[in-house]
Amino acid sequence: MKELSTGVDDSPGTIVHLKEAFRRQGLARPMRLRRYDAGDVLTYDITGVAPARAARVRLAVEKFVGGGFAGQVYRARLVELAAPHGELPGLEVGREYAVKIFLPASSFARRFRNALYAVGFQAPFQIQVNPAAARAGALWQMLIRRGAALRFGTEGAVKAIYATFVDRQLGSCGEISEWIVGRLWRFEVNDRLWPAGGGSWAARETTSARRSTCPRRNSWPASWPCCTRWAPRNSPASTNGGR
Ligand SMILES: Nc1ncnc2c1ncn2[C@@H]1O[C@H](COP(=O)(O)OP(=O)(O)OP(=O)(O)O)[C@@H](O)[C@H]1O
Ligand SMILES: [Mg+2]
Repeated sequence: MKELSTGVDDSPGTIVHLKEAFRRQGLARPMRLRRYDAGDVLTYDITGVAPARAARVRLAVEKFVGGGFAGQVYRARLVELAAPHGELPGLEVGREYAVKIFLPASSFARRFRNALYAVGFQAPFQIQVNPAAARAGALWQMLIRRGAALRFGTEGAVKAIYATFVDRQLGSCGEISEWIVGRLWRFEVNDRLWPAGGGSWAARETTSARRSTCPRRNSWPASWPCCTRWAPRNSPASTNGGR
């Protein structure tokens, strides 16, 4: 067994070995899991988002991606799909997907989230415990995609959700969605946090649009007053006296 400097070995091989050893004991009480590991194969009875057809899938977990207060996210490959009632749009054997289970892997995050919901709603986190809520969330997101198509010209600006399911092992609903390659949106330092021209988002965006077109933008900071006043000809800002 490979020992890490901390004395803890959490390599995938060791985890598989330990799980197998646990299973061999034949205990009546099932093993308590907080999250899955690469190599695990998950079997779910799923419901397609649109149309709401029932099917059964097997997904091979490739990576635990992370999570926050809503849940835990995995990259998984669809290895088997049994859809006796007709195909489910978006789901193809061999493709990789994001699997999000609405139960945080961290106990602190789970307790904190549940405490907030208990205080705010006197109820548990709905999309974890209520399959109808998980489905409503998925439908809502597909509706937002329609809006994105009108606003941005492509539905692809918002990820698609293909199916929802109940994970009986962890005790939570979850969803299978499009896997997005890349990094977090605007996961970068915001260098326009306090622009001249006001604190509102609209003012901020207008100021940054002006600065990006200012002919003297490369000589900042000397051109700062110029950039905050600059507006290209015929732009909406220029009709407002450049403010
Ligand atoms: N469809 C996806 N494709 C690729 N990566 C994803 C996808 N969905 C989530 N992730 C990644 O997984 C991580 C956790 O996801 P997310 O932020 O959605 O979980 P959460 O914090 O539990 O939920 P929320 O932000 O909705 O409260 C993030 O790093 C995110 O980029
Ligand atoms: Mg998050």
